[in-house]
Amino acid sequence: MPIKVALAGVGNCASVFVQGLKFYSGDERRGLWHPNVAGLKPKDMQVVAAFDIDSRKVGLELPKAIFTPPNVARRYLAIPKGKVTVQPGISRSDVPPHLSGVRLERSSSEDVSKRLEESEADILVNMISSGSDSSSEEYARAALRAGCGFINCTPSLVLKNNKLAADFQKGKLPLVGDDLMSQFGGTVFHKGLLGLMVKRGIKVAKSYQLDVGGGSETLNTIDEGIKMAKREVKTTSVASEVPYKFETIAGTTDFVDYMGNDRTSYFWFEGSTFMDSGISVDVYLRSSDGANAGNVLFDVIRATYRCMKIGRLGTVGEICAYGFKSPPKPMHFDEAYTKFAALYVK
Ligand SMILES: NC(=O)c1ccc[n+]([C@@H]2O[C@H](COP(=O)([O-])OP(=O)(O)OC[C@H]3O[C@@H](n4cnc5c(N)ncnc54)[C@H](O)[C@@H]3O)[C@@H](O)[C@H]2O)c1
Repeated sequence: MPIKVALAGVGNCASVFVQGLKFYSGDERRGLWHPNVAGLKPKDMQVVAAFDIDSRKVGLELPKAIFTPPNVARRYLAIPKGKVTVQPGISRSDVPPHLSGVRLERSSSEDVSKRLEESEADILVNMISSGSDSSSEEYARAALRAGCGFINCTPSLVLKNNKLAADFQKGKLPLVGDDLMSQFGGTVFHKGLLGLMVKRGIKVAKSYQLDVGGGSETLNTIDEGIKMAKREVKTTSVASEVPYKFETIAGTTDFVDYMGNDRTSYFWFEGSTFMDSGISVDVYLRSSDGANAGNVLFDVIRATYRCMKIGRLGTVGEICAYGFKSPPKPMHFDEAYTKFAALYVK
């Protein structure tokens, strides 16, 4: 039985995810972090429904919609026609800045639940634009009503909504999130270097991470309100890696359209060592957002499905800590990985 996945948001992340499913549908292993998670392979996942509100994508077949502007993710391979057509999604009064002036196609939360039921989706993966907090919560309610698990890749703090979290628990369904942590993105890289400094006895004083990228998600996150909310999630996640207070900032700084789906993260670290002599590091990381999400998405979907099907909801916390920047129970990233791997990576 394949894992039936529904997607909310057919943007760049969704584009690379859909291409990844095709790429790894046979024996291909290049670039795949975990071929087997919870006894499941990438080819065990299948997209059965997709929702967006951008009229340029709604009504298109998924293989066409993922390459439709403003998406800029690389075309790694051709995707054959399938049965999934992008349907109108839920939108509250939190339309992302990059869609202002674009005609929207919306439907009710109840209709989205109906579509999820009809498609027999097991899990709804939320990949809508950041800043649409109320819409993200409504997708979670729609998933719950349809008996689906919910994975929140956006920085909206859905799991911090106690009522929603309790309702998922009551419904014996997994609620997983918040804010996907890329395989080798700015956050984990920042955490890793801080962890190394702490382990080597450096007294960390300050650090920053300034991101410049293209793609509509970056365009959204230079909106002042969204930028500050996203910066808060990233900064809190990074700060948790050091066992004392120090000054740090992590967030998106600018949008450069011709960077496409790529991102450059600039890091600076300052600390002190023997006789208070200084240590500083300047380094940058170049990555591609959609591809950087792929492996972690593959892993958390397979693990979430397994714990849902065998009623092991008690391990949802480990999935969240491994795959997300703002989990309910934060852990150091290497501890989170060790626990996740012990439970799910075979
Ligand atoms: N490496 C990564 O790509 C990564 C890592 C961490 C978190 N995320 C999060 O994943 C989400 C998606 O990232 P992306 O780069 O694909 O963004 P994107 O801007 O490329 O795509 C977002 C898509 O959501 C659609 N959308 C907006 N509001 C919607 C709504 N209410 N209902 C349905 N669709 C809606 C947009 O039209 C667009 O197609 C973002 O919230 C981002 O913060 C991504």
